[in-house]
Amino acid sequence: MNIETFRKYMTAEILMGPNSVRILEELLNKHPLSLSDTDIILDLGCGKGLTSFVLSKETAAKVYASDLWIPADDNKKRFVEWGIENQVVPFCEDANELHFDKKLFRALVSVDAYHYFATKNGFFAEKILPFLKDKATVLIGIPGIKTAYTGRSEELLVEWLGDEAYMFQSTTTWKEIIGNSDRIESVVTWEMECFDSAWNEWFDTEHKYAIGDKQFFDTHIKPYTCFVGICIKIK
Ligand SMILES: C[S@@+](CC[C@H](N)C(=O)[O-])C[C@H]1O[C@@H](n2cnc3c(N)ncnc32)[C@H](O)[C@@H]1O
Repeated sequence: MNIETFRKYMTAEILMGPNSVRILEELLNKHPLSLSDTDIILDLGCGKGLTSFVLSKETAAKVYASDLWIPADDNKKRFVEWGIENQVVPFCEDANELHFDKKLFRALVSVDAYHYFATKNGFFAEKILPFLKDKATVLIGIPGIKTAYTGRSEELLVEWLGDEAYMFQSTTTWKEIIGNSDRIESVVTWEMECFDSAWNEWFDTEHKYAIGDKQFFDTHIKPYTCFVGICIKIK
C-alpha cells in the first residue's frame, strides 16, 4: 500500500485523530487481507469513512462503513464524491447492538474506535463474533498504554483524557479483554510502529483537537501511550 495515494484526504476536515490511514497501513502490512469481490469487510467505527475508502482501493471486497456519531447520509455524500458508492455502503449503528446478518463478514477492521465501546471482558465473543464468517480476520488499531504502565492509565492520563482515560489499555490487557471462544484461532497484540508518524500527521492538520493533543504529547502521550495493534483469526 502506498500511503501517498491517499495523502490529499488526510486533512483536518476528514481525520478525526492520529492518522487513521497510517494505522491501517501497518495493520494491512503486518496482516495482509486476501479478499475477493464476494467478501464483505465491516469497518467498525469508520468515522468519516477514510479507512473504508482505503479498504475499497486496497482490496476487492465490498465495505460496510459503520459509525455511531457520523450520520450515514453524510458518509454517503462523501462516498459519492470519492466515486466509491458502489463498493462502500454507509451505516449508522451502535457497535453494542449491530443489526447485520450473522456470519456476514470475512474481515472486520476498526481504527481508533474499538476502545470506545469494547473494553468490557466478553464484548468480542458476545457482540462481534456472531457477525464473522469462519476463517475471518479482525484487524484493530487503537491508542493504548505502554505495557510497562499496564493498569495505570487512569492515574497517568487523567490530566489529558479526563474520564476517558480508562479506555487506554495495554497490549496484554487487550489480549485478556478479547478473551477466548471456541471459534477463536488466535489473538496477537503488539505496540505499533506507526506511533510517531500517525501523531505528527494529525498535528500537521492543525485541527483544533490536534492543537489540544499536541500540548500533552511530550508530557503524557509520548512517555506513556502507544497504539495497540490487534489481529484476531477466526477458525
Ligand atoms: C476518533 S473517531 C475515529 C474514527 C475513524 N475510525 C478514524 O480513525 O478516523 C472514533 C469513532 O468511534 C465511533 N464510535 C464510538 N462509539 C461507538 C459505538 N458505540 N458504536 C460504533 N461506533 C462508535 C465514533 O462514532 C467515532 O467516529
